[in-house]
Amino acid sequence: MKHKTINTVLAISALLLTQSCTTAIIDEGDIDGLPPITRTVTYQSDVGNIMFNNCITCHGGAAPSDGLDLSNYQNTKSAAEQRNLIQRMNSVTNPMPPQGLLSPEIRQIMDKWIEDGLLEQ
Ligand code: HEC
Repeated sequence: MKHKTINTVLAISALLLTQSCTTAIIDEGDIDGLPPITRTVTYQSDVGNIMFNNCITCHGGAAPSDGLDLSNYQNTKSAAEQRNLIQRMNSVTNPMPPQGLLSPEIRQIMDKWIEDGLLEQ
């Protein structure tokens, strides 16, 4: 009887573990803990620099990774709209950049950019 209970607990834990591993997007709890951004975020104020500092070594130049060039406003905007840019920047299991998630502060700025309507300036 006792063994059966333990087995059930193990099975449930395994199930929960599998589920949390297949959930690619983190709950963004680390972002929720930050003070909200009250100013308007634009490509020119922040996003361009974030792309230049973290992404264009791969997503720029003559042969950008995955055919995705993130060196200008138009492309960055369409990647946010059509190519999961924000989801990938918040993915624990499949993050961009591939070496690991950027800081919550940077990801919060990206979220605010979306919220503000993907403005250029
Ligand atoms: C070290 C190189 C490297 C860096 C740095 C990098 N990427 Fe990528 N990225 C890739 C590669 C390779 C792929 C294609 C494979 C994949 O999807 O994982 C990719 C794919 C993507 C995709 C998916 C495109 C699609 O249509 O599915 C997005 C969006 C993306 N990257 C955004 C970013 C952003 C935003 C940054 C910076 C915050 C970044 N990447 C930094 C190499 C990189």
